[in-house]
Amino acid sequence: MGEIGLYEAMSTTRAVRRLRPDPIPDEVLRRVLEAATWAPSGGNRQAWRVVVVRDADTKARLGAWYREGWSAYRGHQEKGLESLPAEQAERARRTFDAGSHLAEHFAETPAVLVFCFDPSGLAVTDAALDRVSVVGGGSIYPAVQNTLLACRAEGLGCTLTTLLCTREPEVKALLGIPEGWGTAAFVPIGYPVGRGHGPLRRRGVEDVAFADRWGQGLD
Ligand SMILES: Cc1cc2nc3c(=O)[nH]c(=O)nc-3n(C[C@H](O)[C@H](O)[C@H](O)COP(=O)(O)O)c2cc1C
Repeated sequence: MGEIGLYEAMSTTRAVRRLRPDPIPDEVLRRVLEAATWAPSGGNRQAWRVVVVRDADTKARLGAWYREGWSAYRGHQEKGLESLPAEQAERARRTFDAGSHLAEHFAETPAVLVFCFDPSGLAVTDAALDRVSVVGGGSIYPAVQNTLLACRAEGLGCTLTTLLCTREPEVKALLGIPEGWGTAAFVPIGYPVGRGHGPLRRRGVEDVAFADRWGQGLD
C-alpha cells in the first residue's frame, strides 16, 4: 500500500506517458480501482463504470485509434509552436514527444482504464444554460482523479486521456459498452520508464483564487 502523504501525492501527480509493459499485480490494480469507488457523485448516483482493458488485441485496436487521433492533434497544435518564446516552445515539444511515445506504445501499456458513464444518472444542473454543460462531468472525473492519485501512491504512471472519446461508437462496439452509455476518459497505467511523477507547473493561488469578489486578491 502506498505510504505517500496526500499533499505530496497531489503536488506530484502529473501525466506520465512513458510506461513499461510489465504487468500490474492484481492486488495493486484492485486498490487503484477501490480508490476510484470512493469518489463523490451527484446524489451519490455513482453512474460510472470502468472497463479494465488488458487484452492485447483490444489494446491494439484502441492504440491504432489513439495514434490517429494523436497525430491529427499534434499536427494541429504544432503549428502554433513557432509563435511561442523559445523556452516555452522547447517545453511544449518535449510534451509532444512524450505524447507521441504514448501514442506509439499505447497498446503495450499493461492496462487501459476506460471510464464510462450513464448520462441519465448524472445531476446536470447546468444543462439548460446557453453554454457548454460541465456539471455532469463532475460526477465522473472525481473517480478518475482518485484513480490518478492512487496510481501515484502505488508508483504507477498514468495519464488522463480523452482523445478516444472522438471514437466513442467504435470503442463502444469493441468493449460491449451498453446503449445509452458514454465514454469519459481512457487512462493508460503502468510502471514508469523514467522517474515518473514529479514537480508540477501550475498557476499559483494568487492567480486562481479571489476574495469575496472576482478579481479581488486574497491577502
Ligand atoms: C480533460 C483532460 C483531457 C486530457 N486528454 C489528454 C489526451 O488525450 N492525451 C494526453 O496525452 N494527455 C491528455 N491530458 C493530460 C494533460 O495534457 C496534462 O494533464 C496537462 O498537460 C498537464 O500536464 P502535467 O500533468 O504533466 O503537468 C488530458 C488532461 C485532462 C484533464
